[in-house]
Amino acid sequence: MSYEAHSNQTPTARPTVSFLGCGYLGATYAICFAEMGYEVIGYDIDQEKIDAFNTGTLPFVEKGLPEMLRRNLESGRLRFTTDIADVADAADVHFICVGTPQRPGEHSADLTYIESAVVSLSQHLKRKCLVVGKSTVPVGTATWVEELIERHTGGEYGIEVGWSPEFLQESNAMHDVMRPNRIVYAARSEWALNLLRAAHQGILELAALEDREVPVVETDFATAELVKVAANAFLSTKISFINAMADLCETAGGDVAGLARAIGYDGRIGNKFLRAGIGFGGGCLPKDLRALTARAEELGVGDSFHFLNEVDTINTRRRTKAVRAISELADRPSGPAGPNLEGLKVAVLGATFKPDTDDVRDSPALAIARKLAAARGEVIVYDPEGLDNARVEAPELSYAKTLSDAVENADVISMLVPWEEFRTLDPESLGAQVGQRRIFDGMNVLEPARWRAAGWTYKGTGR
Ligand code: UDX
Repeated sequence: MSYEAHSNQTPTARPTVSFLGCGYLGATYAICFAEMGYEVIGYDIDQEKIDAFNTGTLPFVEKGLPEMLRRNLESGRLRFTTDIADVADAADVHFICVGTPQRPGEHSADLTYIESAVVSLSQHLKRKCLVVGKSTVPVGTATWVEELIERHTGGEYGIEVGWSPEFLQESNAMHDVMRPNRIVYAARSEWALNLLRAAHQGILELAALEDREVPVVETDFATAELVKVAANAFLSTKISFINAMADLCETAGGDVAGLARAIGYDGRIGNKFLRAGIGFGGGCLPKDLRALTARAEELGVGDSFHFLNEVDTINTRRRTKAVRAISELADRPSGPAGPNLEGLKVAVLGATFKPDTDDVRDSPALAIARKLAAARGEVIVYDPEGLDNARVEAPELSYAKTLSDAVENADVISMLVPWEEFRTLDPESLGAQVGQRRIFDGMNVLEPARWRAAGWTYKGTGR
């Protein structure tokens, strides 16, 4: 039965939901919603990916998610398809989860995937339903999606649009979907709002079971669209702020980690997202920051967002600074042509944009590895999960299959991503494998005194 039958009542029934675009976002949502008892259909144009999901294989790394995928395939509540007509027929609520990458050579977001998902869905819709945007978009997109649907369905069936941003962090994705710290959505009619409430009921029921509360913000389209970019721009600003303080600490002889701890005790500031290091990367923070600035510019309020360009510049400068720190550590101070690492073996530990993911999109670690290679270092990269993606992204670099292979006879160790495997390294046993005991601790996760006591020349960030 379609959700329409219940549309005038308080929603108790669970609508059937679809997720269009099965990347990190859509796939995680699809699996978690099935886990919460919804009938779910995941859609993607990539047949190989869909086949993988349907046979219980997750094409990316997210702890605990493969087991949840298999459990829900078995339950019969979850399936994946490349057939958009099937999706259009099956679901009452369609969540758009496709990527909105940065346009090449520009700062604005590319909405091509949103357009093609919405258009191909619209062409097959034969009944009233709700299309909900989840992808991160420039403010104004929801109205454009309404127009697209209107144009491609001829206004038949009264299909409506909603917007509900997501705040999923890779490596914490299942938690962020099923136990979010807030739910935000927007729609125009009471019918659509009721359907959105029903589509989030599973999250609220789980919270009630666990004696938690999840705040729900029902708002308008523009606010819902802006919440996501605002949150990501704010988080980016926090990171660049602490990285700027790291520079000051380094010059003035302070310790940025202690400083972050001390200011973080102030509840108004908070202690999260204050880890200084090689800067932020990934598929969201950098591009969302730029897309927000670009959209503000288009809307004539660019002046108020110039500071975000600085946040971005501080962030990308971390990469050059890390290379300089590594070359100084190796007794190769930069000349006028930059650092020269010729003849030095540099082991780079970490390629992903953060630990516990295989995602290398805009990875600071990989960018640093490339710069070290450009400075003629003999660079060998190791990462516990990201090697396959790194090879595709940076085929010119050399990779090691194990940590031991990477560090053997190295002249300098660059620890750039705080994977557990690296954080727990023993200075003595690592020392026995390397050529020189020199370590750059890019994200300040090691205990400097312990490493120095073991004869290492240690260099952190802002300490
Ligand atoms: C981010 C947002 O956190 C999430 O809410 C949104 O939905 C998508 O974008 P994600 O891209 O998975 O999530 O990564 P996140 O955990 O936010 O980390 C982003 C980058 O910031 C990483 O490169 C990380 O290493 C860096 N970072 C994070 C710091 O440099 N210092 C910190 O204190 C925290």
